[in-house]
Amino acid sequence: MSGKGRTIAVCGKGGVGKTVFTAIMTKLLSSRGDMKILVIDADPASGLVPTLGVKVEKTINDIRLKIIKSIKESKGGDKLEISSMLDYEILDALAEYPGLAVLSIGRPEDEGCYCRVNDLLKDAIKLLSKSFDLTLIDGEAGIEQINRRVMMDVDDLVIVSDTSVKGVNTMSTILHVAKEGNAVNYSRIGAVVNKARSEKEAKQAMDGVSIDFLGWIPEDETVREYDFSGKSLLELPDDNQSVEAVKKILENMRV
Ligand SMILES: Nc1ncnc2c1ncn2[C@@H]1O[C@H](COP(=O)(O)OP(=O)(O)O)[C@@H](O)[C@H]1O
Ligand SMILES: [Mg+2]
Repeated sequence: MSGKGRTIAVCGKGGVGKTVFTAIMTKLLSSRGDMKILVIDADPASGLVPTLGVKVEKTINDIRLKIIKSIKESKGGDKLEISSMLDYEILDALAEYPGLAVLSIGRPEDEGCYCRVNDLLKDAIKLLSKSFDLTLIDGEAGIEQINRRVMMDVDDLVIVSDTSVKGVNTMSTILHVAKEGNAVNYSRIGAVVNKARSEKEAKQAMDGVSIDFLGWIPEDETVREYDFSGKSLLELPDDNQSVEAVKKILENMRV
């Protein structure tokens, strides 16, 4: 374990396996029993919550709606009051499981609201990562949250790609955006290649991208089946090949 409050964000193109990777990390880390783990489902279009098979009653989007309502009702609202309400609401939105707490961004449906919900997400990461040994964030596909500095208080940025040129191009774009953000200092940025057939293929796919290679995950029929039937990935057997692969990646990350 490398210090209190380490925060790891997972990003990459849609469909490359961010959620599967985050879920398997969650499985491995929450069963260790020596850490307080927080997992944040930060993708509004995602499925980390069902992939883990957990239940979340209140989302960051619900908090946003509540704040809007309270501002309207109090005709302006006291800034201090809103800020203390916010801390309370964020803590109240945590779903608690053995060895694990889960927070979800929810699905903002009204227009022009992604920005605000991302601001709240940033506040939540800052507030909560202090109270957990490790925070894992399953990020939104693409570069928006990197661009908007939502991942500002993140230590490790892990960019996932499959072996496709499109996936790797998105990886390069994210890498570029992450490095040019002068307000953001990630301690580590690394790559994971998912759905590969061999380490050789995984490395070949990333040829020309200058980023630390953290490891690869095979294309795995069991993972596919679990996702197909809606079974929680927390229940994957310990000797499953993807679980073994993610274990190696965590070792490489020194988690
Ligand atoms: N290693 C893998 N082996 C087989 N199927 C996978 C693997 N990783 C992801 N998938 C499948 O690919 C799809 C997209 O994965 P997901 O983790 O939801 O991607 P993302 O979160 O990046 O959008 C899902 O249907 C999932 O079951
Ligand atoms: Mg996802």
